[in-house]
Amino acid sequence: MQILDGKKLSETIRSEIAEEVTRLRLATGVTPCLAAVLVGEDPASQIYVNNKEKACQKTGMESRLFRLPAAATTEELLKLIGKLNADVSVHGILVQLPLPEGCDELRILDAIDPKKDVDAFHPENVGLISQGRPRYLPCTPCGIQQMLIRSGIETAGKHVVVVGRSDIVGKPMALMLVQKQSGADATVTVVHSRTKNLTDLTRQADILIVAIGKAKFLTADMVQPGAVVIDVGINRLPDGKICGDVDFDAVKEIVSAISPVPGGVGPLTISMLLRNTLRSAQCAAGETTLR
Ligand code: GUN
Repeated sequence: MQILDGKKLSETIRSEIAEEVTRLRLATGVTPCLAAVLVGEDPASQIYVNNKEKACQKTGMESRLFRLPAAATTEELLKLIGKLNADVSVHGILVQLPLPEGCDELRILDAIDPKKDVDAFHPENVGLISQGRPRYLPCTPCGIQQMLIRSGIETAGKHVVVVGRSDIVGKPMALMLVQKQSGADATVTVVHSRTKNLTDLTRQADILIVAIGKAKFLTADMVQPGAVVIDVGINRLPDGKICGDVDFDAVKEIVSAISPVPGGVGPLTISMLLRNTLRSAQCAAGETTLR
């Protein structure tokens, strides 16, 4: 049984990125810059944004944090996004979700310049992904795909069951894996809270990707022996410990490979954010063109 060590993989990817950041700066004078927008005081969001900033700095990128109070209005946020869109020294814009109630999340995300939308949440970027010609790939699904590729796990012809249909993970993951491309070519089923006979479907999976946001949701009886299980969940238990959407201790006994939480998908998600920001900067420096 293989433990899919996302922390180690992400260290490899981040050192590749750091090398490229240095090369780009020496060749063109451009330092990739990510602007992060954090609204309110949500403790988990503060930790996520902090981790993203630290990761930027460690790879030699610039990060700028814009903090707004929970009472900030949609108009105030739109004004900030407009300023960041116009600032040529900013290559990526990230608005940490969830936004406080009262902020119009769709209006705010739609206002981000699609070429700086390193989360790939803008409808233009989602449309490009769906047509198999992505500009940016969304960070968590892209991290999962890299985990599969770099761990030598074949997806072509395999039955992948994605548990969860969120716009951030489930839907784009399914869209990516169904493409006629290497690292994809899978037969994909998406199951969710309204699916009938969910266990019958998860038991048919060669690869299970679980992003449903419920601690230990996927139990051993829901998994075909020998399957690969990717756990996207980050849940806090009453004792303060972090746990995934998979009952790790029981499921690990029957699978061929499984990603842990923490130290699985999470670190790769941040690496992909850095990669998207780097690509945007390479484009701004005239080295490549974005679609
Ligand atoms: N909140 C949870 N996941 C994400 C993510 O990938 N990007 C942003 N911006 N916010 C999130």
